Amino acid sequence: MTTEATRPVPLYSDEYAADPYAVFDELRKHGSCAPVELAPGVVATLVIGYRAALEVLQDPETYSKDPRVWQHNLPPDSPVAPMLSWRQNLLFNDGEVHARYRKAITDSFSLIEPYALRDLVHRTSDMLIQNFADRGEVDLVGEYARALPLLIFNSLFGMPDEDSVRVVKWMAGFMEATSPKEANEALVSYDTYLRELVAARRESPGADLTSWLVEHPAELTEQEVVDEIMMTTSAGHEPTANLIANALARMLSDDRYYRTVSSGALTATDAITDVLWNNPPMLNFSTHFPRRDVDLHGTWIQKGTPVLISYAAANTAPSDLPKGPRSDTGAHLSFAAGPHACPVKQPAVLISSTAIDRLTSWLCDIRLTVPYDQLTWRPGPFHRALTALPARFTPIAPDQKGTNPWNVSRSSSTPPHATSRETSNVSAP
Ligand code: HEM
Repeated sequence: MTTEATRPVPLYSDEYAADPYAVFDELRKHGSCAPVELAPGVVATLVIGYRAALEVLQDPETYSKDPRVWQHNLPPDSPVAPMLSWRQNLLFNDGEVHARYRKAITDSFSLIEPYALRDLVHRTSDMLIQNFADRGEVDLVGEYARALPLLIFNSLFGMPDEDSVRVVKWMAGFMEATSPKEANEALVSYDTYLRELVAARRESPGADLTSWLVEHPAELTEQEVVDEIMMTTSAGHEPTANLIANALARMLSDDRYYRTVSSGALTATDAITDVLWNNPPMLNFSTHFPRRDVDLHGTWIQKGTPVLISYAAANTAPSDLPKGPRSDTGAHLSFAAGPHACPVKQPAVLISSTAIDRLTSWLCDIRLTVPYDQLTWRPGPFHRALTALPARFTPIAPDQKGTNPWNVSRSSSTPPHATSRETSNVSAP
């Protein structure tokens, strides 16, 4: 029987988006696990204790990632259906199937040299900064943080520069669609495009992630490569955009960071670490389904029902965090943990810190025009995403003396083709 005390708490409301940590504090009365509603009629268990979260993430024998036992319960038009329905990729599979897809991704990403990636981020950042630098004001979410990861992925997957506008439109179309019809149209166009790209790379491989996936010893089929690309770009886009935006919001509203532009002590990496602990890009995800009825730290969870991890609540859980000095920065759960932990965390942090450093080095007096506590957040049970991040700065012009974002990228000192295979095509967008 559902009583007031056990009624699932909605994670899709505006109140939750405004202050999720107040909701997590309220949920702590349940212990390490609490009943929540992800969308109307979609009920789940949210793990909010640190140790309980680790237990789920590190125990694939008990907790499966495959939603097919449950997804028939999802209302077909539910807004969370795309995030929770099974697909043929690493996120929704266990065991050997998962390991095969995951190895193809980790092996392929390992061929990208960090300095080549940094150079790509510099050129992509400069290109975006050129669009607003002479204006003196910008929405850092719409014009920078959300635009940058998509352009980077285009390059990494070897999509020709001239296709980048329509590819970015399709990707944004299916990830940020306002209706299922719009999402489906974008998805079909992107899928068709990717099939052509994969066929072309099979015919004539280049030095890019698509070719490396095609050539991988896992012998992925054409459809599997297409699904890997789609999964990786969508898994990477939202959290990377939020990591950049949330860290910039912290930095540009706090004088301790502001001073660093010339002389202070705190850096972009500090802001990223702070965000990963205290305001992570994904607040809750890692959906699992127990293979049998389980008792998780005092809560009975029924076999085949969804269990999500609240990285945000677990990171800040007051009582069950490991005791002792917390000098390590590796123990937050914001990249998850266990077999499905984010396989691309180092590149993701490198992209984010480089993008922030590049922006603040060109626009060194950039400041928010809205106080931090008046910023607004997009509703939704999974992400921690700002709706906008308005900022102001002293404009800079293309014909300005010395190096500027317009002339520096043209004379970049780092060669564009620079990876461990010497042939990588992480070219400028
Ligand atoms: C370059 C950018 C990124 C790429 C390409 C990427 C890619 C991926 C992929 C392929 C997975 C699935 C792993 C698996 O199931 O075995 C994954 C999982 C995950 N990623 Fe990332 N990621 C990126 C950035 C980030 C960032 C910035 C965050 C947040 C701090 C993040 C958090 C996570 C989490 C929490 C999971 C586990 C999801 C789950 O199991 O449900 N990722 N990522």
